[in-house]
Formats: sequence, structure tokens, C-alpha cells
Amino acid sequence: MNDKFKTVAVASFLGQHWALNETELYNIWRSRKMALAARQNSLNFINLADLANPTVKERDFILTQCNNNGFALYCCDQPETDVKIAESLRRFTDSFGLNVAESHRSAGNHGVVALKVSKNQNQRGYIPYSRKAMNWHTDGYYNAPEHTIRSFVLHCAQPAGAGGQNQIIDPEIAYLRLRDQNPDFINALMAPDAMTIPANTEENGSVRPASIGPVFKIENGALSMRYTARTRSIEWSIAAAPAAKALQNILEIETEFLVQITLQAGQGVLSNNCLHNRTSFDPGSDPSKRLMYRIRFNNRIEGG
Ligand SMILES: [Fe+2]
Repeated sequence: MNDKFKTVAVASFLGQHWALNETELYNIWRSRKMALAARQNSLNFINLADLANPTVKERDFILTQCNNNGFALYCCDQPETDVKIAESLRRFTDSFGLNVAESHRSAGNHGVVALKVSKNQNQRGYIPYSRKAMNWHTDGYYNAPEHTIRSFVLHCAQPAGAGGQNQIIDPEIAYLRLRDQNPDFINALMAPDAMTIPANTEENGSVRPASIGPVFKIENGALSMRYTARTRSIEWSIAAAPAAKALQNILEIETEFLVQITLQAGQGVLSNNCLHNRTSFDPGSDPSKRLMYRIRFNNRIEGG
């Protein structure tokens, strides 16, 4: 490794290329990112012989995908029962050093949330538990800073009969596109008052306080993102509003680094909380058979 490459590798490790005045470091990082990130739908599923016990080689494949794309796609044979899949998923995510975040109101066994169409009192009215499409977001964008979601796993037990496709974009790609367009947009979205989700009274009467914070944040050299494309119950600061508009447009027109997947039974996504959305599914089907398991974590994938 020559000296210049070593310097750049260390700078990148420390996250110095995120600074807007580090143009040269940023451009080197940018070229590398564009070269390594998966082009549209070119990402392969990593086959796991045993979800609960990924081998060293399987882990390495997953970490490489996470490093290059912010997420990895895996597939495995379907464990037989809900209890078994919950346990297997937790052992899988434990092997990446992940700390379960929730205390989510719907978190069941092992902190696993079953996402399916539901009429339960505490889930009714929430889009994840409906057949409706979900717009671009990162998970937990309404959380307080101390409950930041930095990674999640989404595992399919049963696909929809029709629809239910996810699109995924790496936050580093969104950042890159926005910085290419106007570095001032990055500044605006890193401000601590950029995006506010107003307080909300939950079905059970408890109040979730307002969530105020940046969209982009650098933590330990890594970029994290907090975002929703929703237009109701959201307030952008005056400085951040044009940047938010530009970001929304970027997500709508991105094709080169857009991954579209309709997860099948036994397939899943392990992600450093990448941007994602979902199409609607199973129109007219009551009940829908689509069942996804999700676990959210406070920390990032170790080594990814
Ligand atoms: Fe989500």
C-alpha cells in the first residue's frame, strides 16, 4: 500500500471525507463508492446454510455487501415455527454484534416484531400493519436521539400474493447525489433543527414527544440518516426545506443505485438503516398472508 493510499484509507476510516472542505478526500471516497456499490438489481442473495449460525465465509460476504451498499441480502431455508425463526434471527444478528433497540409496543419474542395486516387496537391505523404503500424513510425517524435506530433486519416468512415490493437506497448514495448537486444542502440537513416530527398521542393515550434533529449525522466516522418523505406531520427548518425537496427528488429519480426486491419466504435484508419504501399489496385480500419479521438495533453492524 503506498503512502497516499494509506493516508486516504485512514482518513476515510476516521470519516474525514464527510467534511465539506475536504474535497480531495471526498472525491477519492466518491470514486471508490461508485466503483464498489451494486448497480441496479445486481446484488445477489447470500445463501446461508443455517440462519442461526452463519459461517465465517458467509459473515464475510454479508459484511462486504454492507460495506459496499449499506445492506446485505441473504436467503436461507425456512425455519418451521414463529418461535424458531425469532430465535434464529436473534442468533443471526447477535453474530454481527447488534443490540436490540425495542421496547417497541409490538415487539414480541426476542424483540422481534411481526409485520402483518392487523386490526389490533395498538396497531390499527399504523401503515406498517396495513396493505398500504410506504414512502421513503429510515426506521425510527420519529425516535428521540437516545433511541436512534442504526440498523435493522427484515425477514420474510410469507410474501404477499401481489405487491409488497421494497426499494432500497444506501444513505451514502443519497448523500453523494445531494453533495454533488449542492454541498450547502448537506450543511442544511446536518443542522440539529433540520427536521421536526411533532409530538403524537398514541392510541393508548401515551404521548410521544416531538423529535427534532438532523437528517445526516456523522458518528464514529460513519454516516447515519434520519428521514421520512412524508408530507403531513413534519416540519422542516427554513434552511433545510429546499434541501429536503432536493433530496426527495433525488430519491424519486435514482435508478443507477436503486435496488428493488420482493422478498420471498426465507429471504431477508440486513441493513445499516438504509432508506427504503414499500409498495402496496394484496388488494381485496382479507386477510393478507404477507408476514415479515423485523428487529431494530441501536448500533451499526459490527465491521459493516
Ligand atoms: Fe421501515
